[in-house]
Amino acid sequence: MEIKVVENYQQMSLKAADIVADQVNQKKDSVLGLATGSTPEGMYARLVEMYRVKMIDFASVVTFNLDEYTALSPKHPQSYHCYMNRHLFDHINIKPENTHIPHGNNEQDISEICREYDYKIFSMGGIDLQILGIGVNGHIGFNEPGQYLQTRTHLVELAEETIEANSRFFSSPEEVPRRAITMGMGSIMHAKKIILLASGESKAPVIQKSVSGRISTDIPASLLQLHRDIVLIVDKQAVSLL
Ligand code: F6R
Repeated sequence: MEIKVVENYQQMSLKAADIVADQVNQKKDSVLGLATGSTPEGMYARLVEMYRVKMIDFASVVTFNLDEYTALSPKHPQSYHCYMNRHLFDHINIKPENTHIPHGNNEQDISEICREYDYKIFSMGGIDLQILGIGVNGHIGFNEPGQYLQTRTHLVELAEETIEANSRFFSSPEEVPRRAITMGMGSIMHAKKIILLASGESKAPVIQKSVSGRISTDIPASLLQLHRDIVLIVDKQAVSLL
């Protein structure tokens, strides 16, 4: 596990965008695993700038998002579908049919949707570069802390900390969806390369626990220590407890 410490959020975003651009420039039809949330917003903004000055071309890129709420319509402004359009897809030349975000409402459909999602990732040759943020409780994607972690894409009940943390995007905590579909730990760990981004003091305790040399399902991100090609790009505040 390599840890690159940068000065601030801006530097983290630039560094991450450079890594994505290098990946896509080396392999035009790269399969990217994408995250949402506040953390990668600066990286997406930089990728849009790079696209505008022809430093990156998304024409053949394929993407798979980590997760999506189940009870929200993809048209809801806080859905991850809208997030991705707003921050990236609407501004670049990616083909809509090459972008994938899990979506489902009905419980029976969901297990089929999850199976198909994993199959699609597999049939595209797996994820070349996975981008991750990290929850204050150590979740990655929506793989929440608990006695067990799941390997495959699945339906998840969000943890209270996650509902609370994400309530900043909604007018009240009651509005935050309670359930989501997320890629599992296996799908994430199978990515050929991973970058995990973290910025700010609020992430310092969880970054400390995630790189401690110990692995626990209580801190899902701690499993990433077993990945062979992972880089943490973290600002000084996020490593202030290391
Ligand atoms: C979102 C996701 C989550 C976030 C995490 C951090 O697609 O996978 O694991 O990365 O909740 O969110 P922010 O960046 O808002 O602190």
